[in-house]
Amino acid sequence: MRKILFASSEVHPLMKTGGLADVSASLPIALREHGQDVRIIMPAYRQSLQHLEQLETVATIKLDGYHSAVDILQTTLPDSDVVLWLLDSPHHYDRDGGPYSDPTGQDWADNAARFALLSRAAVKIALNEAGLDWQPDILHCNDWQTGLAPALLATRKQRPQTVFTIHNLAYQGLFSEDVFQALDLPDSLWQMEGLEFYGMMSFMKGGLIFADQITTVSPTYAREICTHEFGYGLEGLLSYRLQQGRLSGILNGIDSHIWDPQQDAFITKKYSSKTVRNKALNKTALQQHFLLPENKDSLLIGLISRLVSQKGIDLAVEAMERVLKVGHDVQLVCLGSGEAELEQALRVLRARYPDRVGITIGYDEALSHQIEAGADVFLMPSRFEPCGLNQMYSLRYGTLPIVRNTGGLADTVVDASDENRKAGIANGFSFDEPATAALEQTLLRAVALFARPRIWRSMMLVAMQHDFSWENSAIAYIELYHHIVNR
Ligand code: ADP
Ligand code: GLC
Repeated sequence: MRKILFASSEVHPLMKTGGLADVSASLPIALREHGQDVRIIMPAYRQSLQHLEQLETVATIKLDGYHSAVDILQTTLPDSDVVLWLLDSPHHYDRDGGPYSDPTGQDWADNAARFALLSRAAVKIALNEAGLDWQPDILHCNDWQTGLAPALLATRKQRPQTVFTIHNLAYQGLFSEDVFQALDLPDSLWQMEGLEFYGMMSFMKGGLIFADQITTVSPTYAREICTHEFGYGLEGLLSYRLQQGRLSGILNGIDSHIWDPQQDAFITKKYSSKTVRNKALNKTALQQHFLLPENKDSLLIGLISRLVSQKGIDLAVEAMERVLKVGHDVQLVCLGSGEAELEQALRVLRARYPDRVGITIGYDEALSHQIEAGADVFLMPSRFEPCGLNQMYSLRYGTLPIVRNTGGLADTVVDASDENRKAGIANGFSFDEPATAALEQTLLRAVALFARPRIWRSMMLVAMQHDFSWENSAIAYIELYHHIVNR
């Protein structure tokens, strides 16, 4: 049994902007189920506190660089017995808006201070200096918001080993040198072999340089980030760490209780691979919800996403426009929010094809389940995708994913080529080039196969039978913890 402190800026259902939150809940739960003593540290956001009862103040800590002491509140993660510590600094976290930005979408001006605080608190607990009487073997950090922790721990003796997981290299936590000074960090960190990155301070580099082990959320993404195309200038450093044996990819799992068509309380009619015909009732309900014609033969395409360039939403809109223009029998339902331009592009598409396209701009957990259950295919044409969870949810729901062949999408979706279908392994559709024409061709392949119900049904069954639960991946993390503690 290992003691693991898991640090994250988002944990479902307390705060979520994307897959990081899902993983930061479901991985600790899976580790706990495998007998590990895992405890989570996250900020006590206003919205998170509103979710929780029975909070107990278990420590009050004073951190370098901050005037006031902060409390650590303890509870358990909802529906589990995983210990959850919330870092209660009202000045930093008690506000409306998201974890990184205000209600208008502007980044909080004090993000560096907010997440340096999280990192410093994680270090204090990791060194057993917070008065919690608990000494972890491993500090497991996630994304740039926790990147300073491995850097601050590196020089300490008697410290736990550090794991830093990259969920998305595109967000690096870059701030000016002035901010670095204001954070009262050791001067020695301001160098190329430290946090400095082309004249800026990089929180991400704290993890990449100083963590004892780096992981990312799929094997393919681990290779991709070592290349110019996906590395954002960090590919040299990452290749070096790969050669050292200090970088690897472990595919995320999914919470197979929350995402289970057989138990899903959000959907109209529950189903399994044995009762897959019941999926049709969810399709009708979804068409009704979006006021689209209730036609069984239309290929119903679902899309749920942060609306950002990463996700290839522009490609989706352009390719759909082409497919709709020539009158193919397809429908599209979208749920998402993000960049104003992409929201607008979806609205325009809906205005042009009101009986073909339905959109909901916003965040809606229930609707996301209904789309997974009701759609025939799930569209995810990401330019890059470290892992991606929605394609795995889709597979579990027999909703065949259409994806670009990259990152975790490449590791989970097997294209419906003749060869793969004959081998009985095809579970979706994929394309290589991040271009409208490539996606359009792939959509047309899906339309053509949808007209052949027996083939379609057999692909649905292949998709639904694959095990994407955390079982294998949790074991891979436990082996990794074991390996680095003994190294
Ligand atoms: P990313 O973390 O890059 O956004 P993932 O596929 O890993 O991508 O995870 C996205 C998660 O966020 C999924 O659980 C997905 O269902 C959820 N999600 C994204 N947008 C919305 C939305 N508008 N409403 C509800 N859930 C959403
Ligand atoms: C990031 C990535 C996504 C991944 C998620 C959880 O948000 O964009 O691909 O699934 O983290 O690891």
